[in-house]
Amino acid sequence: MQPDDKPAAKAPAGKAWSGRFAEPIDSLTQRFNASISFDRRLAEFDIQGSLAHARMLARCGLLSLGDLADIERGLAQILADVQADRFAWSLEREDVHLNIEYRLTELVGDAGKRLHTARSRNDQVATDLRLWLRAQIDELAALLKRVREGLLDLAEKHTETLMPGFTHMQVAQPVTFGHHLMAYFEMFSRDAERLADCRRRVNRLPLGASALAGTSFPIDRESVANELGFDGVCENSLDAVSDRDFAVEFLAAAALVMAHVSRLSEELVIWMSPGFGFVRIADRFCTGSSIMPQKKNPDVPELMRGKTGRVYGSLVAMLTVIKGQPLAYNKDNQEDKEPLFDTADTLRDVLALLAELLKGIEPDAQRMRQALRKGYATATDLADYLVRKGVAFRDAHEIVARAVRAAEESGRDLSELGVEALRAFSPLISDDVLAALTPEGSVAARNHIGGTAPEAVRRAIARARKRL
Ligand code: ARG
Repeated sequence: MQPDDKPAAKAPAGKAWSGRFAEPIDSLTQRFNASISFDRRLAEFDIQGSLAHARMLARCGLLSLGDLADIERGLAQILADVQADRFAWSLEREDVHLNIEYRLTELVGDAGKRLHTARSRNDQVATDLRLWLRAQIDELAALLKRVREGLLDLAEKHTETLMPGFTHMQVAQPVTFGHHLMAYFEMFSRDAERLADCRRRVNRLPLGASALAGTSFPIDRESVANELGFDGVCENSLDAVSDRDFAVEFLAAAALVMAHVSRLSEELVIWMSPGFGFVRIADRFCTGSSIMPQKKNPDVPELMRGKTGRVYGSLVAMLTVIKGQPLAYNKDNQEDKEPLFDTADTLRDVLALLAELLKGIEPDAQRMRQALRKGYATATDLADYLVRKGVAFRDAHEIVARAVRAAEESGRDLSELGVEALRAFSPLISDDVLAALTPEGSVAARNHIGGTAPEAVRRAIARARKRL
């Protein structure tokens, strides 16, 4: 149900903070101030936090067992209504916290009014947000794992598939497609580490900080932290209600995930273009053109690349929200939610889709090999060969450059010049050079940790499987 955004018609009777006000709130102010249109998403976490708070109050003798039972019953009903999408959210009740508290009091009477003892919306919203973000991180980490598994599965099939590796978008040296994919596995593994690291700082309990200074009631914060699965409590009440650097950290980690997704997307778009033709993507992930019947467009990778912008935007928005805020809580912090929500939603879709997309990628080994031929990809191997025969690398570089020019003039690859023709550039060249000049020989020679040899890649995949 949509929040009712009609202006408040009469005096603000019943508003949680209306007691000291002489006139009703201005209708635009009401809409501008309210967060209910988006923070409803926190409802389940708000209820979870309230239940833990109420139970602690009862344990500490600050709430009767009868009141606790009423609160538990009321919140259970509210949760059911929220989940069934029949809770009547109201703009007049401003935000998710007041909407739920007001409804609770409607349902169970005075007990509902006692729930807010030793608590403020400031520590309440910080708690809700951390609970929500923790759940998001766990979900995103699981999706990231699926992406990493997808990369391993594809890499495993292509430890021997040869393709050009590029620098400056120019053919550089032969690599295996599996090796190329494993580069992304490494990026996404660091992303997973960053999320896990960020989670540790998210997972601290603000409740008990109350508005900013703590509370005069004898509360037990550790027990609330325990019940809610937090690793501990926020140490300083002022910091607890005003800190949002955990949100910045999450958004920064998310921005890097998107940077990596975007690089891979960019490569897929290039590889799919007819000039390259390196990969095909299953039809179910492609779209057509409304005018050009022949087209099969890579809309999905393009959108993944495009959505990177909104995530970067959210990071900058959040950094800007926290800058210049004096201690402690300020309403600026209400602006923390939409960038976080949008980022979590974007990442969830992107990672879920990418995990599926990886199953639909089919490289064209022949096209990849042709591209290798065109780019003199084994020129470095010829230089290395001469070095092994005693030539200084700089001299070898010069010799090979001349050979490449000759090959270019005759429209052939180095390996096609023949040993005799190559010997014209250096008498040290003999029959064994041909093995070094094939792409197979070139990749096989790079057989060390981090190298592109099929054997090295197979070992890298095995280690990666263990890490997962
Ligand atoms: N809706 C508010 C937010 O998102 C809740 C906290 C309001 N606290 C206050 N003192 N007005 O931050």
